[in-house]
Amino acid sequence: MASLTPVHFFSHGSTMMLGEESESADYWKKCGDEALARNIQGVIIMGAHWDALNDSIQLSTNPTPGKSPVAYVNPEKYINYTLTPDLPTTNRCITLLKNEGFNVTGNPTFDWIHDVYLILIRMFPSGCPPTTLISANARYDPHFHMKMGATLRPLRKENFLIIGTGGAVHNLYRNRWAPMLKFRDNFAMETPPEDWALEFRQAVEDVITKTSGVQLRRAMTRLMKHPRFRDAHATDDHFMAALFVAGAAGDEEDADAEGVLGAESWELTNMCNSQFTFGKWKEIAV
Ligand SMILES: [Fe+2]
Repeated sequence: MASLTPVHFFSHGSTMMLGEESESADYWKKCGDEALARNIQGVIIMGAHWDALNDSIQLSTNPTPGKSPVAYVNPEKYINYTLTPDLPTTNRCITLLKNEGFNVTGNPTFDWIHDVYLILIRMFPSGCPPTTLISANARYDPHFHMKMGATLRPLRKENFLIIGTGGAVHNLYRNRWAPMLKFRDNFAMETPPEDWALEFRQAVEDVITKTSGVQLRRAMTRLMKHPRFRDAHATDDHFMAALFVAGAAGDEEDADAEGVLGAESWELTNMCNSQFTFGKWKEIAV
């Protein structure tokens, strides 16, 4: 739907994606530039590293969040970047989610993590737009996260940019870490990726680029039953944002909205950082 603000599912990969140049980093910047050119109202983002317990979810209400430090990145790349929490929209989202039956509270002390600030810095290097940060839920129910996205979908009509940051193929136990640990080379690939990684990566691309609307929601939840899912995701945390995004971009009204693979970066041999966008911006006069 051209009239709705697009939605992104980004694979943030390792911490080194913050400091190293890549096609994915270029794509994130391009998406940020496009969003700023359309005067987005703000960003609403779910990451992979903040999961609330039991049946709860949380939104960050910390007015001055710090940043959890990261390894293998020069601190200059992030230490001075100011995060801009959007507390009015955060409170609005809490109300919207509460009205849909979610057990949701604000968290006034949460420090933001690289899954989120890596993307914000890469998309918006000259300044963070007003941002609402939402946790995932540690029970990792795909339908639950899809419903979270569906609940916040109407904010796209007000030009909020909804982003999920996780991973297409993201199994830290099966990555080949040696070149990064020894030589700071996260893109080294001494062998091709293994078949399970290639297969699941292809399944994710097929679902996102060949389905849309409610079919996208069904297909995305079904990916967690794919025979290679557990190889591609040793834990479910980096796939929840994909379900959140399917909720935000998979309404009946989104039936004509195209999903595109904008860029991709393999890291650590077996981690596939695919970057996807759902829907298109309206053309603007230049
Ligand atoms: Fe991560």
